[in-house]
Amino acid sequence: MEIIVEPPKDISFSRLRGRGVWRYSPLIPGRYSKIVSMGEGNTPLIKSSIKKGLYLKFEGANPTGSFKDRGMTVAVSSAVSLGYKAVAAASTGNTAASAAAYSSRAGLKTYLVLPKGNVALGKVAQSILYGATIMEVNGNFDLAMKSVMELYRSLGLIYPLNSFNPWRLEGQKTIAFEIAEEIGVPDYVIVPVGNGGNIYAIWKGFNELVKAGITDRVPKMIGVQAEGAAPIAKSIIANKDEPEFVDSPITIASAIKIGKPVNWKKTMKAIRESRGTALIVSDEEIIEAQKMLARREGLGVEPASAASYAGYLKALSSGLIDENETAVTILTGHALKDPDAMLRMDTKRVVIQPEEVRDFVLKDLVS
Ligand SMILES: Cc1ncc(COP(=O)(O)O)c(C=O)c1O
Repeated sequence: MEIIVEPPKDISFSRLRGRGVWRYSPLIPGRYSKIVSMGEGNTPLIKSSIKKGLYLKFEGANPTGSFKDRGMTVAVSSAVSLGYKAVAAASTGNTAASAAAYSSRAGLKTYLVLPKGNVALGKVAQSILYGATIMEVNGNFDLAMKSVMELYRSLGLIYPLNSFNPWRLEGQKTIAFEIAEEIGVPDYVIVPVGNGGNIYAIWKGFNELVKAGITDRVPKMIGVQAEGAAPIAKSIIANKDEPEFVDSPITIASAIKIGKPVNWKKTMKAIRESRGTALIVSDEEIIEAQKMLARREGLGVEPASAASYAGYLKALSSGLIDENETAVTILTGHALKDPDAMLRMDTKRVVIQPEEVRDFVLKDLVS
């Protein structure tokens, strides 16, 4: 399902009030008896310190540490306004944490279906903290999603919080509005792709700005997937109409470890209509990008988010993007989400006696 928005005729950025997702409420459809919000959105758009035309949109600054909060404020407000008492979601982790937080604030019961052993520690911990009911299932995300789809179909009482719910995407599209308001329309927007809702939402946002007469073009959308979980990227690169689903996806970037993306049609539409493309990056490239973001740019992101930066570096080295062109990489989630990924990284780390610290530093400084 797609939501078609007819923007009001007299809209302009200078007339908007407030900050974050709901600043753009003239472009967010729906009638809400209650807005469930924690000030999501309004995330930093940081100019790269090492790449000329590059900006980094740090979605880790959202209330639960990922871009999902933008969608969740709209979807949970919709659930409350429609009178639902319970919500559910299958998740690789960030949707779970965000759904649990927003539903708790709204006083709704939250049911989460997580693929056991495939969710980063920080995200499980968040879901526990917010008091959700957690069902860990044997199998990967795609199987968890299947079970939740059956739940939605058979029990009408449960409001769905996965990204096939188009209201989620109405919140996520505000990433485009914030970028356009701050730096205008970039040449490229680079997004890590799992289920494919976010890249479509951002593209939709840019389209609506054109429709509203605020901007005059849409950036080329570049979707990035991990080598072992790249059904959409492979089909875009091979110029096929449909993805070949992956039964057993594998990647260190657990947030995008998805073999059967539910939003594949929307993703392919966004990429093709924007004249963008898709890229595939290896786990090694993702880890290197995560390290480079932290150690050169000062930005801590989880592995899936680093995939977009890895994609940018690949696009630069292959000549697809010139460093002088403007590109925005969407850094979708905070590093703290996945402590295990950080703990696996190399750094100089020793155990010494307190009286040895001075000599150690001295020796290190001159080495
Ligand atoms: C950190 C992070 N990046 C990227 C994605 C992919 O987003 P989408 O499923 O909308 O493609 C997710 C989804 O869970 C995520 O948590």
